[in-house]
Order: sequence, then C-alpha cells, then structure tokens
Amino acid sequence: MIRILTCILLFFTFHFALGQIRNAPLTKSDIESATRNYQKYCALCHGKNRKGNAADYAPSLSSNSLMSTMTLNFLASSIAFGRPNTAMAAYIKDYGGPLDMKEIFTLASWLKYESDAETIDLGDGPIAGDLWNGANLYAQECIKCHGKKGEGITAPALSNAAFLAFATDEYIKYAIVNGRDDTKMIGFKEILTEKETNDITAYIRSLAGGWSKEPKKLAPYPTPKQYVLNPQGKDPNFNLIEGRYAPIKEVMEAIKNKDKMILLDTRTTSEWHNAHIPGAVPIPYYVTEKDVDKGLTDKDTWIIAYCACPHAASDTVIDMLRKKGYKNTAVINEGFFGWINAGYPINAGEIKEIEN
Ligand code: HEC
Ligand code: HEC
Repeated sequence: MIRILTCILLFFTFHFALGQIRNAPLTKSDIESATRNYQKYCALCHGKNRKGNAADYAPSLSSNSLMSTMTLNFLASSIAFGRPNTAMAAYIKDYGGPLDMKEIFTLASWLKYESDAETIDLGDGPIAGDLWNGANLYAQECIKCHGKKGEGITAPALSNAAFLAFATDEYIKYAIVNGRDDTKMIGFKEILTEKETNDITAYIRSLAGGWSKEPKKLAPYPTPKQYVLNPQGKDPNFNLIEGRYAPIKEVMEAIKNKDKMILLDTRTTSEWHNAHIPGAVPIPYYVTEKDVDKGLTDKDTWIIAYCACPHAASDTVIDMLRKKGYKNTAVINEGFFGWINAGYPINAGEIKEIEN
C-alpha cells in the first residue's frame, strides 16, 4: 500500500514538475534516449512508426485523437503499470520491468512531442447516463471488437481496471464520438445521439472493478544451473507448424513426460513476475543478440519460447537464437493466454521454482 502511495506521490511530483516544462522542447539527449527506448521496447507491437497493430492489436500511439486527450500522467501510467491481463505489460522497475520513472516520463513526453497533437482540455466531471440503455447499445455497436464484457478482442480492453482508474468519462466519450484517426475505431458522431453516447460512457464506467495491483515482492530470477528442466530426461518430440510453432498440447505432454528442455518467457520481465509457466527463464524480447544465450551451455537442448502475443516477442528471441546456431528451438503456438485458458499450471504470486 505504502509503495502504491509512493508511486502516486511520485507521479504527482513528476506531473507537476513536467507540467511546468510541458511546452519546453525535449533536450537532444532526451529525444535520443526516448527514440532508442521506443524502438527497443515498444516497436514490436506498436510498430516502428507508432501506428499500432504490428502485433497483438496494439493501438496506435500516433493518432491525434489519442495524443490530444491522453494526459501526460495517464500516458506515463499506461506505460508504467500496463493493462493487466492484456499484452500491454508494466514497464516500471517497481513491477519488475526495465524502465525507471524518469525514462517513462521522457518516453511519454516524446510520444506527445512526436505526435504534434494540440492538447485538448476535456474536464473531468462525471457523465451521467442510463446504464441499461448503455448496455444495450454497447451490445449492438461495440461487442464485436471490444468483447462481451469489455475484455477486448481486436480492440483495447474497456473494462480493464487499470484503464478505468486513469481514463476520465470525458476521455472515453471523446474517443467514442471522434474515434481514433487512421484506425478501425470510427467516430460514432453520426451514429449515436449525445444521450446515447452518454449512456454508453456511463455503462463502460460501471465496469470499473477498482485498481488494486500492488507492486510485488520481486522473486529472484532462476540461475543458469536451474535453466534446463529435467536434465536427465530425453528430448521432446514436436510436430512443428511452419518449422517453428509447437502445439500447446505437445508442450504440455513433454512437460508431463519430464523431457529435457528449456522454457523461455519472452515477455516484459514484469509479466514473468506476475505469473509464468513453472520453470520458465525470463529472456525478454528486448534482450540484445549478444546476451540472448547468456547462461545457455549447449546448442542441442530444446528451447521453447512463449509470449502473450502469441508469436511476436517469441519470434524475435527465437530468430536471434537460430542465427547463433540454436536449431532445436520452438515457440508455443497458442501463447501464454492459450496456456492459461487450457487450465495448465502456472506460477503466480509467491513464486517458487520447481526443483530439478
Ligand atoms: C507485446 C505487445 C506490446 C508491447 C511490447 C507494448 N505494448 Fe503498449 N499496448 C499493447 C496492447 C495490446 C495495448 C492495448 C491493451 C488494452 O487496453 O487492451 C497497449 C496499450 C498501450 C497504451 C494505451 C493506449 C490506448 O489507446 O489506451 C499505451 C500508451 C502504450 N501501450 C504504450 C506502450 C509503450 C510506450 C511501450 C514500450 C515501452 C509499449 N506500449 C509496449 C501491446 C504492447
Ligand atoms: C470495428 C471495431 C470497433 C468497434 C465496432 C468499436 N471499436 Fe472502439 N476501438 C477499436 C480499436 C481498434 C481501438 C484502438 C484504436 C487505436 O487507438 O489504435 C478502439 C478504441 C476505443 C476507445 C479508446 C480506448 C483507449 O484505450 O484509449 C474507446 C473508449 C472505444 N474504442 C469505445 C468504443 C465504443 C463505446 C464502441 C461502440 C459504440 C466502439 N468502441 C466500437 C475498435 C472498435
């Protein structure tokens, strides 16, 4: 709790400090470091050009509609804390991510600066509406992309607690009315009346579950000695799709058979801290080619990578390994969410690694 309060306090301090210099240009070195961090950590899903959809239906980070209405604080929070249970991870060190608060604010300021969007002051009063009518309209107009419960299918999760903790009613309404330029999110200005838009906004607000994600006590990473699962076991046997993707069932079989293998979690390290497949080693997609095989001792042991994407982050790591001569490599085809949906075991909360 205290850490959350510290975080909030830090945000306000930063927010205030940055508010003072919001219109001052970023320094050359800020721009360089933000550009570097963006390409290293974000381009995988949001695209090299920030237009979104490179993987995982990640939203555009260049749309005028988003960048003119998402405050710097909201933007930095989205990067720091992510959107739990979506492919958008937390990037802040407190949650086991790779970036500190200053780097995150620099990145957020740079995203705004690059978009060149004029900030629109929306106000933050609540919007009242008829929830039942809102629910009906949502079912008619929004479900096919945002999901039955707002969980997000091909579009952002609108019922996400971390989203609703920071998004104001006016922010949500603005997105519905104006859409997001150059994306599948059209503006509903001509389709819905103002009252109907208010009803849907109120309905989305009613899905807020309260945001209570406290930073965890971070578990230590496995040491190279613990990397290989079942060192005495035999090699697994996969029917790889396109020479690379192992069906989830076959991976589970191999684990049950106690086959010899290494599991790699290629998501942002904070996600490994949240939950991972037991025994998985965190090697995030933003690892350098030089470090990708640090701690791996032989090129024959099977290496199976997974991410939430379900392929983009894993492919990046497996490409690097294959380039370095690791031939026995595969990606779990259905990814981490496939694993969870299949009801297979994971390590979450207090992390205890399995013993070899
Ligand atoms: C593994 C893919 C992936 C990576 C890597 C990633 N994101 Fe995201 N990001 C997403 C997805 C998916 C969403 C939408 C989540 C949702 O709400 O359902 C998202 C949402 C966001 C949002 C909220 C935008 C909105 O429209 O609400 C911001 C801001 C953002 N990401 C910034 C970043 C930044 C900056 C980085 C790099 C530090 C990054 N993301 C890395 C997948 C990713
Ligand atoms: C055809 C698919 C589709 C439909 C239908 C659709 N949306 Fe969206 N929506 C999207 C996509 C895709 C995005 C993300 C766009 C981007 O920024 O890249 C989005 C973004 C949003 C956002 C902004 C979320 C954020 O994180 O900032 C809101 C709010 C939203 N939609 C609400 C709605 C509502 C309410 C409806 C129904 C009235 C609706 N949408 C219908 C695809 C859709």
